Amino acid sequence: MARTPIIAGNWKMNKGTAAAASALAQEVVTAIEGKSGVTVVVCPPYTVLHTVREAVTGSSVVLGAQDAFWKATGAYTSQISGEMLKDAGVTYVILGHSETRGRFGVPEPEETVKHYGETDATVNLKVKAAIAAGLEPIICIGETLDEREGGKTDLVVSSQVAGAITGVTSEKALRLVFAYEPVWAIGTGKVCDATEANRVCGIVRQTVRSLYGVEVADSVRVQYGGSMKPDNAAELLSQPHIDGGLIGGASLKAADFAAIVDAAA
Ligand code: 13P
Repeated sequence: MARTPIIAGNWKMNKGTAAAASALAQEVVTAIEGKSGVTVVVCPPYTVLHTVREAVTGSSVVLGAQDAFWKATGAYTSQISGEMLKDAGVTYVILGHSETRGRFGVPEPEETVKHYGETDATVNLKVKAAIAAGLEPIICIGETLDEREGGKTDLVVSSQVAGAITGVTSEKALRLVFAYEPVWAIGTGKVCDATEANRVCGIVRQTVRSLYGVEVADSVRVQYGGSMKPDNAAELLSQPHIDGGLIGGASLKAADFAAIVDAAA
């Protein structure tokens, strides 16, 4: 089945002033103008969602966000719900990023990570709530270096996938996007070998297949993320199980981001 590739820029906690966000969003709009056959998403910080929405209106660039809480409203100081994001013009939402799971690639004090981190269970609540709010989740999964070296990659990835989508109907599962992001490759310049990235993205699809069957497995899109750049994107994106990229650092430069979009289109 032909799947439309999806390239998403995760700006993380960057370009968070109105001026910087607006400038980058406009540059992205210009840089990808006329490119077709690929879904292009930008996920800026919450505070500039409206600014970026204005900049991308009328273009093919789609607005995304970096997280969403599982309750719609209430006494949850600091949290942002799917309903709020939908109202702000958001279509896609990143959920379960290794950084919000507290699985940083660098040593952080354990206490800090424990309080910041979330579990497969909270990711699952967020996935279901985001779908209920009419958003399209991009569900992140991936192993740490310790887990990889301990031979646990496939188990970690398949259990994160299954844990995230428990209770999601087949009809909703058809539209899901997964992002395989090995934690050790994020922001490190150490890209996962394309053949290995394809193999693990295949594990993601196989896990979906075992839960929902072949039609859903063939329909979900699986991105690779972790130091994807213009010079390695084509090889990664040519792999049969890799349907796109979730881009951090390279999404902050419109020309680099557009070159990756080109490699996918
Ligand atoms: P980098 O592209 O900076 O490695 O970040 C990847 C990522 O975490 C995207 O969500």
